[in-house]
Amino acid sequence: MKALILSGGSGTRLRPLTYSQQKQLIPIANKPVLFYAIEDVIEAGADEIGIILGPNKDQVIDSVRSRSWGVPIEFIYQGDPKGLAHTILIAEKFLDDDFVMYLGDNILRDGIVRHEERFRNLKSDASVLLTRVEDPQRFGVADLNPDGSIRMLVEKPKVPPSNYALVGVYFFKPLIIDACKAIKPSWRGELEITDAIQWLIEQGYKVDASFVEGWWKDTGKPEDIFEANRLILDDISTKNEGQINESHVMGRVVIEKGTLIERSVIKGPCVIGACSVISDSYIGPYTSVGDGCRISGTEVEDSIIMDDSTISKAGKVVESLIGRNVRVQKGLTLPKGNRLIVGDNSDISL
Ligand code: TTP
Repeated sequence: MKALILSGGSGTRLRPLTYSQQKQLIPIANKPVLFYAIEDVIEAGADEIGIILGPNKDQVIDSVRSRSWGVPIEFIYQGDPKGLAHTILIAEKFLDDDFVMYLGDNILRDGIVRHEERFRNLKSDASVLLTRVEDPQRFGVADLNPDGSIRMLVEKPKVPPSNYALVGVYFFKPLIIDACKAIKPSWRGELEITDAIQWLIEQGYKVDASFVEGWWKDTGKPEDIFEANRLILDDISTKNEGQINESHVMGRVVIEKGTLIERSVIKGPCVIGACSVISDSYIGPYTSVGDGCRISGTEVEDSIIMDDSTISKAGKVVESLIGRNVRVQKGLTLPKGNRLIVGDNSDISL
């Protein structure tokens, strides 16, 4: 089996972070979202991986190449995001075998091994992953036949035919390429994967469903990123490779090499990356602090702080998503007030 992982798209809902970085590289518990997808497809037996690239393609290549994965990885440049089905057309040459298509901003707690086995055993023409949701109106929703196969897929239905939403993982045979060639762009100008799957059903092919039982998160919006961070941190085990002086560390906490914690309180679950310094601060539950950060005189909770950022005497920071190399500090000069130098589409609560 091959794997096609999508790491293109423009990530408009995550601006301004996505002006400077591809959204699939946003760290969840200090690991890029994309790496969870790569690990899942390798665990499920993918012997070759194609990664679709978008606007920030060099970053994705550098980040993926910073690790050795043990399977060949091919990078396939999509350019402008023209839809999920468009990525299949772009990758046509690579897709000469059955494959799993995995949206690179999705995380599934239990991986995809069980779903790959089911696809292989049922020998259906395609298989989609579904999960039960409370608010199906917000998702692509499946209408199921009595035998559990897919009758129809509907995007954001006003009257949902079921509570089963599409998860961003699909199993296909190369036949899906014909489907992607047969469909036309939707009203939003994209080649939709749901239309391609619907084409398969209408041509009489069998599209099967596989149900996700553990949690699933699509990290397209900041609140989903916080939730994914909480869910991953809920499962971490304690590890301390740093140095702790005059501090109190409680609960499950990961402290990486070269990090110094001094005169601080750390309450897990949380992770603190390598070569950071935390002094006179409180780092509370569900916080991920990246590598090379400096936090002093500040309380942080339920937040993601990416590499090389400095936060100093910033009061209490909660539910915050702070990019790389950011400086947040108490104003030292008069007049007193909030001094802001922020990019377009930033989101600030004072
Ligand atoms: P979306 O989250 O639907 O789209 P997006 O990434 O452009 O984000 P936004 O809606 O905030 O602008 O995309 C789902 C996944 O598929 C995501 O991992 C990006 C990827 N993708 C591509 O690789 N190419 C594409 O043409 C599209 C539309 C998405």
